[in-house]
Amino acid sequence: MRRPRNRTTRRLTAVALAAAALFAPACGPDRSPGSAVPTVAPAEESTVLVTDSEKRGEGIYRRENCGRCHTLFDRPRADGRIDLPPGPVADTLVSRVGPDLGLEGHFRSDDWHFAHLYAPGAVVPGSRMPPSRHLFRPESGRPTATQDAVDLVAYLQALGRARRDIWAEWRRREPAIPAPPSDGSLVRRGDELYQRHCSPCHGAEGDGRGEVAGFFSFPPRDFVAGRYRFRSTPPGEPPADADLYRSITLGTGAGAAMPAFYWLDESDRWALVLRVKEFSPVLRGSGLRAVPKANGRQIEGTGEPRAPDPGAEATVREGRRLWDSLGCASCHGPSGLGMTRQEAGTEWTDGAGVTVPRSGDLTHACALRAGASQQAIERAVVFGVGEAMPSYADALPGASSRRALVSFIQSLERAPRTGQAGR
Ligand code: HEC
Ligand code: HEC
Ligand code: HEC
Repeated sequence: MRRPRNRTTRRLTAVALAAAALFAPACGPDRSPGSAVPTVAPAEESTVLVTDSEKRGEGIYRRENCGRCHTLFDRPRADGRIDLPPGPVADTLVSRVGPDLGLEGHFRSDDWHFAHLYAPGAVVPGSRMPPSRHLFRPESGRPTATQDAVDLVAYLQALGRARRDIWAEWRRREPAIPAPPSDGSLVRRGDELYQRHCSPCHGAEGDGRGEVAGFFSFPPRDFVAGRYRFRSTPPGEPPADADLYRSITLGTGAGAAMPAFYWLDESDRWALVLRVKEFSPVLRGSGLRAVPKANGRQIEGTGEPRAPDPGAEATVREGRRLWDSLGCASCHGPSGLGMTRQEAGTEWTDGAGVTVPRSGDLTHACALRAGASQQAIERAVVFGVGEAMPSYADALPGASSRRALVSFIQSLERAPRTGQAGR
């Protein structure tokens, strides 16, 4: 799934493309490794701007001269395979050349973009991207996005809209969980990686109070309190190691600010699982295991999306009936778009007193924070999500009723990329 690429080549390509962009900002070669004959296509073809905000945002991208460091050439492979961008290499952090943003739409949450525009070096340590503080104004002591920043981020979220949405396709697959390495240096490695990639949000002490944490509506998890949400274990029990590995791999898409770290080596992701567990008095010192202890409610399935069900329509109808009778809409809204706690008239918290701002949008693969595979949705319904979202294990005893509900939720998906995910 990753695109192995030689660092130097990538950097030189980026430099060359940035230089080319100075002269022809809208044109560039098709760099997708899947197409045999490179074609020259204007970047705009791939980005259809729908809302006024997105159209204004394009103007702001030009006005702010973002194109002097960024290109918009990257595109999905033509052969239908999922080829994710390689992730930041150490080299690009000391360089002023920014990554290509052709695949940026729906990869991250709006609040991640706001924090990053305000203080790039605080969110991505070592970043040479200049801060855009002038796009924010102070409001009760906190930097708040101006309309210009909102429009600019709307534009970033629309990038690549007219093409395949690889982030949605990727999030619909269950990530593989490899066996953890048994390596004595894992703890030290995990600590190094944690301080670099995680502490800006989760805090050096793991308490969720990193430098930029205040920007995010879903706050970064407090690893000391250890109230995990995205679990394959019954409510009240600690998460499985595989759950943490999966969260680190997938991030929370456009639904919340947690970035996806799929581009780190598998052993590095396991080192991070170990590091994160060390913060918690409950999880500390228990080692690593890929296969969770049996809890009698294992969710079956492999990484590939399940084959279409021949009785699909009836299954979805049955799922709709369960959705209505179990009262899901009272917290998620009739269309599944999610509700704020004010709209739902409740005081959702995670049990440690941290408020849950909203129930989350179930209508886009990139907005589902725990992933959009059938298994991910089934885990949320069977085991609950934190303390605000109840577990429905008892209400849905049979595999077929759970699958029906999952099929219904998947049928809620809006036409791809028509709205703003996660808002
Ligand atoms: C001086 C060069 C420079 C300028 C100007 C610049 N950037 Fe960047 N940008 C970078 C670098 C370097 C990175 C990689 C490090 C990082 O993520 O902060 C980056 C990263 C990004 C990313 C993150 C991509 C990802 O998903 O990891 C986004 C989005 C972005 N820039 C948007 C913008 C926007 C919008 C503007 C205009 C307001 C802008 N940049 C102006 C250099 C620049
Ligand atoms: C830009 C901010 C940011 C960075 C950087 C970040 N996280 Fe997070 N993380 C979050 C937020 C926000 C949440 C809560 C998401 C939610 O509730 O939907 C979260 C949640 C999590 C969770 C909890 C999932 C659950 O089941 O509750 C884990 C585990 C996690 N992060 C690990 C990491 C690790 C490891 C790193 C570094 C490799 C990292 N995060 C970097 C913002 C961040
Ligand atoms: C009492 C209110 C409530 C009810 C009823 C409820 N949910 Fe939820 N649901 C929530 C909240 C709040 C969250 C987010 C919790 C958090 O992040 O801590 C959530 C999260 C979820 C998620 C995970 C979303 C993501 O981003 O990955 C799914 C899936 C889900 N609910 C489906 C359902 C289904 C299906 C039903 C009915 C069987 C249902 N919910 C009933 C409140 C509710």
